[in-house]
Amino acid sequence: MKFQRVKGCFDILPEGEEAWKTSKIWRDVEKTIHDVCALFGFEEIRTPIFEYTEVFTRAIGDDTDVVSKEMYTFSDRKGRSLTLRPEITAATIRAWIENGLFQTRFRKLYYIGPCFRYDRSQKGRYRQFHQFGAEVFLPDDPYVDAEVIDFLITLYRTMGLKNTKLMINNLGSSRERDRYITDLKRYLTKHIDALSSDSKVRFEKNPLRILDSKEECDLQIVHGAPKLKSYLEDATLQQFEKFCSLLNSLNIEYHVDELLVRGLDYYQGMVFELVRSGDTSRQNSLGGGGRYNKLISAMGGPDEGGIGFAFGIERLIQSLTEEENVLIEITSPDVFLLPLSAAAKDNLFLLLSELRKKSVSAELYCKHLNRSEEHTSELQSQ
Ligand code: HAM
Repeated sequence: MKFQRVKGCFDILPEGEEAWKTSKIWRDVEKTIHDVCALFGFEEIRTPIFEYTEVFTRAIGDDTDVVSKEMYTFSDRKGRSLTLRPEITAATIRAWIENGLFQTRFRKLYYIGPCFRYDRSQKGRYRQFHQFGAEVFLPDDPYVDAEVIDFLITLYRTMGLKNTKLMINNLGSSRERDRYITDLKRYLTKHIDALSSDSKVRFEKNPLRILDSKEECDLQIVHGAPKLKSYLEDATLQQFEKFCSLLNSLNIEYHVDELLVRGLDYYQGMVFELVRSGDTSRQNSLGGGGRYNKLISAMGGPDEGGIGFAFGIERLIQSLTEEENVLIEITSPDVFLLPLSAAAKDNLFLLLSELRKKSVSAELYCKHLNRSEEHTSELQSQ
């Protein structure tokens, strides 16, 4: 019997046909992430890969695609419902509250790790994928928001990623958004028959998501829909303007996209996405995030604001390799030991250990090491 990996998953290998699945690139990218996080004062957090299901349903929202269609949920032996994390924001907030970190200075956290979504598997969309994300638990403040964007952009620039576009929008407070949704639904009711089948479902459950539908039939209807911006109050608009002026002063290019709504329910206020420019596929989002000022208290924590983002490491590395920004170097040992007799092998075996103690990378010939065989034939031909 031949075993295969689960659909929608992949192996990260020392070497392979697809450069983005090479472990050295993953390590380099992860190292850059750790370095830039330290520069911006973020501390790492690692949470379990599964949580009680309510952690995600409460935070993300029952009507989102993630909760209603994509979670890997199962019962443990005592019948408790557990879910493999589909994202890490909710788990980070759970841990921040549960461990009393809100009473400490740790308000800027980051994480790297696997997430799981039962998505239709295709390039850029996997059932096990990896996120790097950052969360800042500080009050609603355009300076904090601009710093988060600066952090994200610095990270991309440090990695050398070029073809990206930053999209931003403001979803307003829940009061502003509720007023908007009432009018949006009134407008959409008149066009309900012409909406795509997905959008008909969204009309009932999550009408805002119709705004970022990519279906041709929805695009025309959305074009004539009321605009969320006209429902934002003066204070919200001023704060957003301040945020935009801070981005201008940092020379960060952005595009305001009034149809950007994000797929998870916890956002309000400023939201953003970094997309691959020139790529119109559904998988063009490298990362995204925004403000979630009510989420921490909704999860039983203090009444504190929050903002964060996450991006998919697969999509990031695929973009880097497609832009040919990564150097794929296969490392070889500094010293290769080739015994010419059984007695020599005993001596070289000890030498091998001594060299490594002195931080010299070394390898002893072994029949099954491909690389050793290459070296052997090289040595023999000399
Ligand atoms: P999200 O937009 O659902 O946000 O996911 C963030 C990123 O994860 C996406 O932009 C994409 O790059 C990657 N991603 C999502 N699903 C998949 C998949 N099936 N395969 C490969 N990559 C995928 C969040 O998860 C929020 N927690 C972000 C956030 C943090 N908001 C505030 N703080």
